[in-house]
Amino acid sequence: MTARTLDGQALAKAMQEEIRPEVAAFTAQHGRPPGLGIVLVGDNPASEVYVRNKLKAGAEIGFRADLERLPASATVSDTIALVERLNRSDLHDGILVQSPLPKAMGAGAEQRVFDVIAAEKDVDGLTPVNVGRLVQKRAILVACTPSGIIELLDREKIPIAGRHAVVIGRSDIVGKPMALLLLHRDATVTVCHSRTPDLADICRQADILVAAVGKPGLVTNDFIKPGAAVVDVGMNTVTDAAVATSLFGEGHPRLALFRLKGSVLVGDVHPEVADVAGALTPVPGGVGPLTITMLMRNTLRAAKARAGQPVG
Ligand code: GUN
Repeated sequence: MTARTLDGQALAKAMQEEIRPEVAAFTAQHGRPPGLGIVLVGDNPASEVYVRNKLKAGAEIGFRADLERLPASATVSDTIALVERLNRSDLHDGILVQSPLPKAMGAGAEQRVFDVIAAEKDVDGLTPVNVGRLVQKRAILVACTPSGIIELLDREKIPIAGRHAVVIGRSDIVGKPMALLLLHRDATVTVCHSRTPDLADICRQADILVAAVGKPGLVTNDFIKPGAAVVDVGMNTVTDAAVATSLFGEGHPRLALFRLKGSVLVGDVHPEVADVAGALTPVPGGVGPLTITMLMRNTLRAAKARAGQPVG
């Protein structure tokens, strides 16, 4: 079997075209576009790329998207002061603090900063209020990657209710909200993590498998029930030639690309899984573009909710 490709890039584009007229209508009605403030502390190269892509997508669809930078030497108090300014701003409906914050800020810095974001502007869905609302199935703002995955499964007509969904990873930003969203859609949900014994055996029971652990190629053929839908959230930059060769094999075009560039972006799912799965998200071009589009949708939702309009 060769898995059907679940094209996140195509869905992201289609959703952007759905959002665009709504952004224009909001702008016409309120005399300003929906606004997003992105806080970037330090100079993590991966974060620079992610943030640039978010700003570009926002501007392209008609949002106001502002980058608020702080140097790597910034303190937690500096960052909190910036978030508080964005909380008060009438021009910003959404606030995103790019993770990770610099290690020098100390353990717990991220939680302290996220906790300050006004719940109604929390477009990452990470504040305690929004997580609580998600648990109770009445959230307006839900973490972008998991809500994008549900959108993808729905539009690709992959049934969720009554299916066994296995989520590998228990992060606040992907694993936990993913498990809750699948549960709310009546899946039977198992959450696996680094301490789960017999990981492959459990994953092999999955009709829907979501891998979000950050381990290149962890999910191999023996993890897959034939025909399962496999969603790869991993975004791993591989620079080790032995790892790249074990993933792609001699003659694969991605290995040739690795030899040219010295690195290759790979997911948590081994490419061989395409032989067993029924459907599979590619990396790149799967979940990544959807996450950015859901950020835009959340910003529009936050803007509408703040303006007292129904969010739809
Ligand atoms: N870093 C990597 N992905 C994300 C995300 O979705 N939100 C935030 N705030 N930081 C990230």
